[in-house]
Amino acid sequence: MDTRTTYRTAVVRVPAGPDSVELIDVPRRALGAGQLRVRIEAAAVNPADVWVTDGFFHSIGMIHQPEQTGLGWDFAGVVTATDTDLAIPVGARVAGMVPGFDRDFGSFAQEVTVQQDWVAVVPDDLSLTAAATVPLNALTAGQIVDLLGDGNGRHLLVTGAAGAVGSFVVPLARDRGWVVSGFARASDEAFVRGLGAEFVSAPSRGWDAVADTALLQEDGAALVRDGGTFVGVRPAALPTPGRGVAVRAVSVVPDASRLATLLEMAARDVLRTRIVDVLPLEKVSEALRNVAAGGVRGRYVLTP
Ligand SMILES: NC(=O)c1ccc[n+]([C@@H]2O[C@H](COP(=O)([O-])OP(=O)(O)OC[C@H]3O[C@@H](n4cnc5c(N)ncnc54)[C@H](OP(=O)(O)O)[C@@H]3O)[C@@H](O)[C@H]2O)c1
Repeated sequence: MDTRTTYRTAVVRVPAGPDSVELIDVPRRALGAGQLRVRIEAAAVNPADVWVTDGFFHSIGMIHQPEQTGLGWDFAGVVTATDTDLAIPVGARVAGMVPGFDRDFGSFAQEVTVQQDWVAVVPDDLSLTAAATVPLNALTAGQIVDLLGDGNGRHLLVTGAAGAVGSFVVPLARDRGWVVSGFARASDEAFVRGLGAEFVSAPSRGWDAVADTALLQEDGAALVRDGGTFVGVRPAALPTPGRGVAVRAVSVVPDASRLATLLEMAARDVLRTRIVDVLPLEKVSEALRNVAAGGVRGRYVLTP
């Protein structure tokens, strides 16, 4: 039986970049109603984690933690305790995401105590390392496609199609009837074509819709035809193209049943998971530095 009273976690107290991350021991969190505790085996590092460490989200008023901000959205691990008899039992392999920004805990930790509807069971044939790269970005991709609606043969440009969110948008949007093209760096052409998208290295204007995961913002919205649709990833900074272009932005929320489907799709390689390296939690600053430097393809995964 695991009787520990504290656990190790990565936090930032004074955000000043990846090297301001500290590993500290904090009291174990009590299980609340409908919650379960997960021993984390893998936690993926996302670009937004860098922007927590460098104070960007603090600067735009999204984080107000008085002491320390918890790092990490994505995790995969094994359930070690549940509040009562939940649908997911102790011992289950699960993956999930910790939502939101303004919180003193996260997934860069030995364990996490979460709502049961933040997690889903990982299929037997998907590793926990790969599963940890799915929740945040595949749910975001799914919710982008919800905002796009059915394609009915219309043409969608995905910017950042070689990135985590963009590469998940491609197959999900194709499933909804969009003819998908991906804008990415020239060196990503083979990967983007392998997703089943046309490859675009210098997009022209006139797309029925643009899913802007590369954060082109106004430049991305300018690519949409009059009366088309732009879906961005920064709800706090919407472009204003005018011309009848519908402008929307995703703000990802947990969705357990959809996550179960997305994990199944990852197990079948319909969603491509990509891992750059697996590093111990102690090397969290190194992983964040590498992500901040840019050009990374796939995810760093931390193991506590
Ligand atoms: N709103 C939400 O709920 C939500 C949820 C999840 C993620 N997000 C956001 O979604 C965005 C994408 O996340 P991600 O994890 O997919 O990032 P990622 O894996 O780094 O992918 C972004 C991709 O866009 C490419 N890119 C950037 N600028 C480009 C340009 N000018 N031309 C061509 N390609 C370009 C990048 O290439 P290089 O690396 O070569 O620059 C990279 O391949 C991030 O801003 C993230 O914070 C939002």
